[in-house]
Amino acid sequence: MKILMVCLGNICRSPLAEGITRQLLADRKLSWQVDSAGTAGWHEGASPDSRSIDVARNHQIDISHLKARRLTYLDLQESDLIIAMDSQNYQDIRRLDPKATQDKLYLIMNFLYPDQNRAVPDPYYGTSSDFEEVCQMLFDACNAMLDQMVK
Ligand code: 4NP
Repeated sequence: MKILMVCLGNICRSPLAEGITRQLLADRKLSWQVDSAGTAGWHEGASPDSRSIDVARNHQIDISHLKARRLTYLDLQESDLIIAMDSQNYQDIRRLDPKATQDKLYLIMNFLYPDQNRAVPDPYYGTSSDFEEVCQMLFDACNAMLDQMVK
């Protein structure tokens, strides 16, 4: 199973979702793969935002080695599960390949709140407490995602 976490810049939310999911997979002794990418390429090659690195480190998760990259068409073919952080990400991913994504694209908060299409808010222009809130949302949503995927 190959999971791909997708946000806009691949420096705030999706690297955190990747790190959290990797930790939760290890806790569950599941050898699934997890990766992340952004729908925009603005930060290609950059490390995660320092506030994401810090908030992950507070939970004993190291994401400092990750590097931002732009989502590719090939990602959509190769991933088993494509997870969007908000509705804009979802639409952008869908537009890239409607056919490949129709059965494997999900909005992450829908694992917790089905059909509500809630967003993980973009914390880029926010404060460190916004990053902590995003981190908590991602822990809960990623756990719910794995619960539903192993059923
Ligand atoms: P992310 O956050 O999509 O969670 O990585 C953002 C990062 C950068 C920008 C926007 C959102 N930006 O405008 O550069």
